[in-house]
Amino acid sequence: MGINMERVLLAGFFLIALLLSGSDAKPIEVTISARRGVEVLLPCSLDSDMDPDNVSVRWSSSKDSFITSGLRVLKYVNQIEVVKMSKMEWNLLIKSATDTFAANYTCMADQKVLLSNVQLLILVAPKIDFGGTSSPVVNVDEGGTVELTCAFTGEPVPRITWLRGDDKQATGITGRKLVLRDVKRYATDVYTCRGENSVKNNEDYTMNLTVKFPVEVDVMEKTIKVMKGGVFTLSCFAQGAPLYDTYWIDNSGTKVTATPWKYKFVVEPVGAHVPAKFVTLETKPGTFTAHDFGTFTCVAEGEGHEARATVEVVELKESK
Ligand SMILES: *[C@@H]1O[C@H](CO)[C@@H](O)[C@H](O)[C@H]1NC(C)=O
Ligand SMILES: *[C@@H]1O[C@H](CO)[C@@H](O)[C@H](O)[C@H]1NC(C)=O
Ligand SMILES: *[C@@H]1O[C@H](CO)[C@@H](O)[C@H](O)[C@H]1NC(C)=O
Repeated sequence: MGINMERVLLAGFFLIALLLSGSDAKPIEVTISARRGVEVLLPCSLDSDMDPDNVSVRWSSSKDSFITSGLRVLKYVNQIEVVKMSKMEWNLLIKSATDTFAANYTCMADQKVLLSNVQLLILVAPKIDFGGTSSPVVNVDEGGTVELTCAFTGEPVPRITWLRGDDKQATGITGRKLVLRDVKRYATDVYTCRGENSVKNNEDYTMNLTVKFPVEVDVMEKTIKVMKGGVFTLSCFAQGAPLYDTYWIDNSGTKVTATPWKYKFVVEPVGAHVPAKFVTLETKPGTFTAHDFGTFTCVAEGEGHEARATVEVVELKESK
């Protein structure tokens, strides 16, 4: 039998544990955590007053009754083995740990003498449990309460932390739920829950939260005075979630959504999260005539309604 270093070290560790526990025949009680795929040695030793040549030892598990009897393997043939590094030892070797082997194991001598109890935990990296997790797109009305939830499976039970933004800034919030009350539009962002345990493969799950609010428009100046042939700029700040079309209506009632010959039309997004835009209408030099004075209207379309704001463009007479 090929005995590798790890096994020898493990055996050595348990030997020391045994020596420390003395000879008052207390059964070994241990919990072993192992990753999937590794070799695991479950310790079992006879009490010092037992005759190693005249004893029979059996391993059983909480999942199966007996899995070994003496050196004979009764279940998981080829996957487990009884390993005796000395006459007194009856260790059980699991050649490659899988979830199947996560159980409580008992090593017993004749007359039901308990030699060891081993709890074997198979470490499992965190994995998102969609059953207990919010959908990746969450909407809430401004002023409402929203609960983002995340669930992870894993062994040990993963710890959950919450991060915010595309750059995943720590929020300091931990646990399954992130609760936002009286939520403001500025809370619109990407939220990530991260599951971590001692297995170093974190898992992240991301949700896009949108705080909905009715569209609003604001004009910078309500009245603009300009001379015939002059150049002016009309600026409007539109926000809303959702925010659909934004445009200006000129004094003749024409909707301006692109740059025609007379105007330059510009829509610039503002900020990364809250849907907001600057909607700008700029006259091109020499195009503005006496017919063009009047009311201009900035319009933002939202869900089921729109918002408007007007600007009066009045003639600035040359004072002589
Ligand atoms: C131990 O050995 C004795 C004889 O030396 C025998 O009578 C007894 O049955 C054996 N016990 C076991 C458990 O095998
Ligand atoms: C193993 O034993 C521990 C503690 O004794 C117990 O909490 C756990 O539920 C048991 N596990 C199984 C799989 O029986
Ligand atoms: C969430 O928002 C990001 C941009 O911040 C985007 O790249 C991603 O596709 C969105 N995810 C979903 C599910 O809408």
